Amino acid sequence: MPSMASNNSTHTVKVNQLNGPKADSHARRQKIEQHRKALPIAAVEKKLLEEVSKNDILIIVGETGSGKTTQLPQYLFNGGFCRNGGVIGITQPRRVAAVTVAKRVAEECGATLGQKVGYSIRFEDTTSSSTRIKYMTDGLLLREALLDPYLSKYSVIIVDEAHERTVQTDVLLGLLKTVQKTRSSSASDHAQSENGALLKKQEDVRSTNILKHSRGKKLPPLKLIIMSASLDARIFSEYFGGARAVHVQGRQYPVDILYTRQPETDYVDAALITIFQIHLEEGPGDVLVFLTGQEEIESIERLVQDRLPKLPESKRKLSIIPIFASLPSEKQMKVFLPAPDGFRKIILATNIAETSVTIPGIKYVVDPGMVKVRTYDPSSGIEPLIIVKTSKAQALQRSGRAGREGPGKCYRLYPENEFYKLKDSTMPEIKRCNLSNVILQLKALGVDDIIGFDFIEEPDRMAIIKSMELLFLLGALTDDGKLSDPVGHQMSRLPLDPIYSKALVVANQFSCLEEMLIVVSMLSVESIFYAPREKLEESRTALKSFSSTEGDHLTLLNTYRASDEFLEKSKLVSSNEKAEKNLRKWCKENFINSRSLKHARDIHSQIRRNVEQMGLCITSCGEDMLPLRRCLAASFFLNAALKQPDGTYRALSSGLTVQIHPSSVLFRGKPECIIFDELVRTNQNYIRNISVIDYLWLIELAPQCYALQE
Ligand code: CDP
Ligand code: MG
Repeated sequence: MPSMASNNSTHTVKVNQLNGPKADSHARRQKIEQHRKALPIAAVEKKLLEEVSKNDILIIVGETGSGKTTQLPQYLFNGGFCRNGGVIGITQPRRVAAVTVAKRVAEECGATLGQKVGYSIRFEDTTSSSTRIKYMTDGLLLREALLDPYLSKYSVIIVDEAHERTVQTDVLLGLLKTVQKTRSSSASDHAQSENGALLKKQEDVRSTNILKHSRGKKLPPLKLIIMSASLDARIFSEYFGGARAVHVQGRQYPVDILYTRQPETDYVDAALITIFQIHLEEGPGDVLVFLTGQEEIESIERLVQDRLPKLPESKRKLSIIPIFASLPSEKQMKVFLPAPDGFRKIILATNIAETSVTIPGIKYVVDPGMVKVRTYDPSSGIEPLIIVKTSKAQALQRSGRAGREGPGKCYRLYPENEFYKLKDSTMPEIKRCNLSNVILQLKALGVDDIIGFDFIEEPDRMAIIKSMELLFLLGALTDDGKLSDPVGHQMSRLPLDPIYSKALVVANQFSCLEEMLIVVSMLSVESIFYAPREKLEESRTALKSFSSTEGDHLTLLNTYRASDEFLEKSKLVSSNEKAEKNLRKWCKENFINSRSLKHARDIHSQIRRNVEQMGLCITSCGEDMLPLRRCLAASFFLNAALKQPDGTYRALSSGLTVQIHPSSVLFRGKPECIIFDELVRTNQNYIRNISVIDYLWLIELAPQCYALQE
């Protein structure tokens, strides 16, 4: 008998082991299948495949959430568009979207990420040679074009979220237009003759330099699909010579729009009050709050957490989930997971959640009506990040998020008459940004005539000239506008802002590349330090142990090194996982944003690899930080400022009056001559991330800009 019992129990265990996880995943797969079939786009799968077969360029317009991004690539894969090893590439303006969507689609296909489905974004690549559906940022595809000008591995390229009209999307559209023409002429010409014909064809293609090397190479034609959530497809259709546009009907339930009676003076506070009002007074359903950036999101996250214990026990079931561009990718997926039983999810998002990321379960939207944008003033050359009102189109997209699965409510935190005063749509980024990065990329792609490039909408000529001037002053362009050798070529290979690239390229000469790699990584992420209002003194004391009297760059370097040292020591006595956990705790104690630090570490390892591949020698300046500061002067010289008698500063290249941001370690010190990383315009012109330099260094290291006054 005992043996029977033991048999029985083994049997039970076995059944559990087999059925448990498997049954779970089976149920999940079934649920996913049902979800896929129920998406609005599923009804037109066949029609879409026909349209793609018939048209080399197709524009697909469909409401957010209809299934464009996740489904279309799978339809194309199943429809045979990857035959002969071709890859379907889908570009996104945002990293977060590329990552989350790729993970979702891999799961839908029952594949491991990095096999059939993968993503590739700046500083992170999960694809392999077996990847056939590849999600990536538009900027990344542009970088790929540097190495493979015909994007020859792709059979289909889908430019997603084209309505966002980011600079990278706009440039990509221009590039793809040329690549597609070349590939279709290459395919047909090859059948007729080897040479000659193609050269003639080149004449009607602008920016022909891209085609330089195409002779004699047989390339399969490229299918191009432009996807947009805005209903107006005209601009894309006209740009592609009257290309066909198809609409995918979405599903939208009614959304009640509520406005405030009076304008709000503090929208962050108003958002906080609204979150609790919804939570305490409204029925079940998740809340999506639109904020302008990481700092704002994290401060609201803390404020909500602080207030929770003051609510009655039964009302504390709130699950706060942030989502913004630089959030580490493992955290990004959290928005898609359902909240624990009985909990309400509060998602704090940037405008990422407007169209690029569709989050299920949202019933309430809180829209303060603000968005952070980068602007550019060609006359002064400054490029501040500013917080502005959204456009009507953005407000409508935001409220639409509340009505995806049932009727919803949207709380606009401004009076109704303000809505009618909003601009209809957002101005394309290319018309309001510094173009130096784009120009560097285009030059590297062989496009010499920037003004003649076939942009979907021409950027301001003054902005082009100013940006070329900046590149010239940085030494990236020669007198006749060509990429300089080696500086310009090296700079174009780095996936960074031209000034940062310059800093790395010259750091080699100052023997401080090791330090500069860290500084640039730390500058590339938002807010390493945080100072909660109620713990201002404590956070200041914590910062003191890393701070340098010579400025924020050295402070960032010290912080990075201290964290590195802590992690290494921790790894000696505990597992890697435990050490990472300890590091997060250490960060918290030191008022360091562990998410940002992690991001900086990732960036560091990537750009270190980049400079190694370029053959640069990574040397360190050791204890003496003078070479590092001189190197900063040699690269950030366009952002130099001098102290004025009244304690403000004058930015030398723009002539603007600026002030040191209170978060800077030099806020009280007020040195004579400084360089800064960025200008933030709120009610004042604030400069951030500052280092002390000597004015004479500018004359010595940037004689093209500075001379001794007589
Ligand atoms: O691109 P579009 O806005 O048309 O839709 P999509 O991004 O393809 O999303 C289709 C559906 O997939 C939505 O219902 C999303 O909620 C869901 N989805 C998801 O559950 N998890 C993801 N990581 C991405 C999408
Ligand atoms: Mg989409």
